[in-house]
Amino acid sequence: MRYVRASDCGARRQNVCDMRAKQILNKLAKMLIFVSLVCASLLMVNRGLLLDEQRQQEDHVVKELENIVENITWERRIDPALITQVKLYINVLNETEVTIYGQRNYKKRYLTIGIPSVSRGGKLYLYKTIQGILDCTSKNEQRNMTIFVFLADDKGDYNNKTLSEIQSRYTEEIQSGLLFVMTVPPRVYPDLSNLKQNFNDAPARVRWRSKQNIDFALMFHQAKDLSRYYIHIEDDVIVAEKFLPKIERFINAVDTNKTHWAVLRFSKLGFIGKLIKSRDLEKFAKFILTLYDEQPVDWLLDHFERSMAQPKPIYCAPSLFQHMGDVSSLGDKPKAVFRDKTFVQHDKPKKVKKANKNRSV
Ligand SMILES: *[C@@H]1O[C@H](CO)[C@@H](O)[C@H](O)[C@H]1NC(C)=O
Ligand SMILES: *[C@@H]1O[C@H](CO)[C@@H](O)[C@H](O)[C@H]1NC(C)=O
Ligand SMILES: *[C@@H]1O[C@H](CO)[C@@H](O)[C@H](O)[C@H]1NC(C)=O
Ligand SMILES: *[C@@H]1O[C@H](CO)[C@@H](O)[C@H](O)[C@H]1NC(C)=O
Ligand SMILES: *[C@@H]1O[C@H](CO)[C@@H](O)[C@H](O)[C@H]1NC(C)=O
Repeated sequence: MRYVRASDCGARRQNVCDMRAKQILNKLAKMLIFVSLVCASLLMVNRGLLLDEQRQQEDHVVKELENIVENITWERRIDPALITQVKLYINVLNETEVTIYGQRNYKKRYLTIGIPSVSRGGKLYLYKTIQGILDCTSKNEQRNMTIFVFLADDKGDYNNKTLSEIQSRYTEEIQSGLLFVMTVPPRVYPDLSNLKQNFNDAPARVRWRSKQNIDFALMFHQAKDLSRYYIHIEDDVIVAEKFLPKIERFINAVDTNKTHWAVLRFSKLGFIGKLIKSRDLEKFAKFILTLYDEQPVDWLLDHFERSMAQPKPIYCAPSLFQHMGDVSSLGDKPKAVFRDKTFVQHDKPKKVKKANKNRSV
């Protein structure tokens, strides 16, 4: 609809102007499309080249490093401990040695629950632990988390057997990106015999805690991109009802408080229920690798917390994780395993309906 009626002449001039403007705009648009197409294809070619180049450069750097390390070893100019350290990094964090069973999604999830698993003298709680986590989370919540299992036994065929059992029990969970299982060959571990005996620990205990340090470092290194937060438990743990929203609420409360934190503790037990930001996982993995033969991993966690400028531990109460087993993976602990007295499994005590009396809850 037009409100102003122009004279014929004016209208014609207007038309000519319009046409010219349209032609120019058309040309401009075509040029723009052409230029952006050229730019896009250049960028894509460049990116491919860059990725290739980067990979080649990385391989090259590793080769150089190995050469230099060899030469320095030969010349004995540098503390051999440093060379041992570099070799440890290269060996343990060798990506090509790691096998992960699971479906990688591009979308980062909210929480990863890390579970290292080794054989415990024939007692196996791992499936109960995984099932407990699945039972305490809704389908919606499960899309927000991943369960990351590391089969880390170093003797016999525990890893192989457990892997095929998990694969048949949890096919769907593995395919949907909810469950990951990791294995590594024994050759990535350093020699764990003849380590120094700090704290008067017996050699078997020193070996056990040093291997545990390597295990955890491997997990942290591999889990760093899966989610926003990472929480570590063990393979014999009971979880509390609705633990996922409870964790989220606690993190939000601490953040709203503007409290600076590196580690949040959702259980009082050793390394169980300790949560850290995934972006700190790589740093933590290297921290542990540097000191793996010095201290147990839960002590290293305390040091890491303070090194990250968190003055004191932050606990969530009541705690959300509890031990179920009574067999330590070291196999020499007395029967009475530590329990977390602040643990509450259910929000309300469950009423057993009369009709269901003989069904186990
Ligand atoms: C290692 O030492 C050899 C023999 O001295 C030398 O030829 C080579 O360049 C050195 N390599 C590196 C990476 O320093
Ligand atoms: C990593 O592991 C692969 C497979 O065993 C091996 O071929 C490669 O040399 C290793 N890389 C380094 C840097 O040790
Ligand atoms: C476990 O499985 C791997 C790969 O299939 C195989 O190479 C290895 O020999 C198996 N180990 C045992 C102890 O069965
Ligand atoms: C799940 O993810 C959604 C969307 O990212 C988020 O808003 C929600 O708070 C998450 N819930 C939990 C329990 O992680
Ligand atoms: C928030 O800060 C207050 C006051 O310092 C403290 O009492 C409370 O426990 C804090 N809450 C959390 C979740 O950190």
